[in-house]
Amino acid sequence: MKPASLFAYPAATICLILAASAESRPFSAILKSFHIFDSQSPLRLHNPFASGMPPTDDTVSTGVIISDVIGKTQSIAIFSGLTRDIDTVSGRLDDASKNATVLAPDNSVMRSLTRKPWEDPEDYNSFGADAYSGKDGEDRAHRNLRRFVESHIVPESPWEEGKKVQTLAGNEVWWESKEGKKTIQPGDVEVTSIADKVLNGEVWIIEGSLA
Ligand SMILES: *[C@@H]1O[C@H](CO)[C@@H](O)[C@H](O)[C@H]1NC(C)=O
Repeated sequence: MKPASLFAYPAATICLILAASAESRPFSAILKSFHIFDSQSPLRLHNPFASGMPPTDDTVSTGVIISDVIGKTQSIAIFSGLTRDIDTVSGRLDDASKNATVLAPDNSVMRSLTRKPWEDPEDYNSFGADAYSGKDGEDRAHRNLRRFVESHIVPESPWEEGKKVQTLAGNEVWWESKEGKKTIQPGDVEVTSIADKVLNGEVWIIEGSLA
């Protein structure tokens, strides 16, 4: 993993993160050592006039794979940025021979997480306020972030209703449809739309986080 791109959050998000975690000073110290404004940021590449609406046709695009399309949906830009920073996940989404269903929390979910995807309350218990300082802290943050992202990747597609599968992180999930709504279980997390259907799987936009 390339540490420099780990926290390649869009500028507006960084402000929100810093505002939301003003008390966790160690993390803002980490941020300074990263290149926050990575030129690869999906927000920078995206067309400001695009609506962010998912494509509506149901056809599977030939030859196109998840890694080609996941960065194009504006409403999941934060999550899709993270998928590129985790080697196990970016490798999987870039492999045409391995299918996946990506359960991508939308940007508003990512912004309002009660703890940041690289934080684990246990780390604060064990290591105190400096949990994410220094080399060990950085490794801890990477590990937590990896677990967060992997817990949103279902290693199969098509994925049948009701079929219990383990995500790449090992947590068991399945989906149900009730009154025309698809929900991810456990947790009743609503699937708001399917952003992409491509050769090696699908990208579903979800209204909550699974980790
Ligand atoms: C992978 O996904 C494609 C497209 O949906 C499907 O045709 C194919 O059968 C899937 N392969 C496996 C092994 O599930």
